[in-house]
Amino acid sequence: PENIGIHAIEIYFPKTYVAQEDLEKFDGVSSGKYTLGLGQTNMAFCGDREDIYSLALNAVTNLMDKFNVDPQSIGRLEVGTETVIDKSKSVKTVLMDLFAKHGNTSIDGIDTINACYGGTSALHNALQWMESSYWDGRNAIVVAGDIAVYEKGPARPTGGAGVVAMLVGPNAPIAFESSLRGVHMENVYDFYKPDMDSEYPRVDGKLSISCYLRAIDACYSRYSKTFEKKYQKQFNLGQVDYALFHSPYNKLVQKSFGRMLYNDFLVNPNDPRFQSLQSYKDIKPEDTYFNTDLEKALVNLTKQDYTEKVAPGTLLAKQLGNTYCGSTYSGLLSLVDEKSNDLVGKRVLTFSYGSGLAASAFSFKVNKPIDHIVQKVDLKNRLANRTRVTPEDFTNTLSLREQRHNLKDYTPSDSVSTLFPGSYYLSQVDKQGRRNYERT
Ligand code: ACO
Repeated sequence: PENIGIHAIEIYFPKTYVAQEDLEKFDGVSSGKYTLGLGQTNMAFCGDREDIYSLALNAVTNLMDKFNVDPQSIGRLEVGTETVIDKSKSVKTVLMDLFAKHGNTSIDGIDTINACYGGTSALHNALQWMESSYWDGRNAIVVAGDIAVYEKGPARPTGGAGVVAMLVGPNAPIAFESSLRGVHMENVYDFYKPDMDSEYPRVDGKLSISCYLRAIDACYSRYSKTFEKKYQKQFNLGQVDYALFHSPYNKLVQKSFGRMLYNDFLVNPNDPRFQSLQSYKDIKPEDTYFNTDLEKALVNLTKQDYTEKVAPGTLLAKQLGNTYCGSTYSGLLSLVDEKSNDLVGKRVLTFSYGSGLAASAFSFKVNKPIDHIVQKVDLKNRLANRTRVTPEDFTNTLSLREQRHNLKDYTPSDSVSTLFPGSYYLSQVDKQGRRNYERT
């Protein structure tokens, strides 16, 4: 099969959000810390009526309805998430309800877990399935997303919620460049979830940032090697029309794009473009993760390219926050929505990162019009139809989630009127911890 990639993409996000400027005041931090310092605008969150099963049910149902996907045409369905409800049963099995009722139970794939990277691993599994002898000619659906919540403190404004669903198959308009990939994985405790009785992770913010930047360095240079092998020419940012990043918060994405240019500089330090970086030539890359002068120099050098190549893919990450596994793919949908058919013929470099850690860089090209996706997803209208909630209500809602986490034999108490019409929601958890869903 040729041009394996994405035919359709949809996102489900909660109707409720908190504004970062409101949260700054409520938290008593300096004005601008979350909006300018982190680069975030709003943060989506959900109450006790929503969980990862209902979010994923909504994302897949909406994808199939909007794009007329025949349930029989799906041969693989994979979920990437780190929002775990059940230590054994996968989110994927819950989604089988949507297919079994149409007589299709022959669908391979389960959940893939590693922080924000599961969605990328799920996507890569689907692509590799289609390139293998096990492929039976059917399409795949890849689901990627999370409910990201942090305990009170500096990490809380970097939460978010949303789930992306993608229809993957051959002859796709958004086609992955096969054999181009740079992978970096290692064992580190930058962000992890050892507390089974809590939704919150343990996170070492600064360590996670250095891990993220180290992963950029490794993935970018390894991706370059595969590019050079395939195309017999040197790779640098000039070959990239657009770049997408896993986005914990926008400021890190700005720095990360600069970090890619730093890698070009390390390969060609004498290029006249890098005049202003000469004093960094002999400093080891691992000693520069928090070098603010270098950071500033790189952000300055990439300012215009950032506006043209990166900013168009940042809408959802700024509006929803970090959707963990969904983040990179919310970037893809933002870019599609913003640029539509202008993307035809363009290469998009993508960097995906999950703490712990697992990361890769890969790329795709758009080779056919995609404006029908923009129309069907109707992103900006849907974002505009959300409800802005006060930081007090947001904080109370997270407290309710804390109390409800892991509970059995209960009926959620949030009003279903806080949800978008037609959404699946959690109606009840029985004594045995089995969950039931209804639709508004
Ligand atoms: N106006 C403008 N900028 C401001 C203001 C202000 N009033 N106040 C602070 N800032 C800037 C700071 O200078 C800093 O900028 P810099 O990053 O360029 O240095 C930025 O805002 C953040 O301020 P810090 O004091 O560094 O923030 P803090 O340490 O309180 O928290 C952190 C930030 C570590 C990212 C925290 O939110 C966190 O732990 N988040 C979760 C971890 C995370 O997202 N890691 C990323 C990769 S792993 C993953 O995806 C989960």
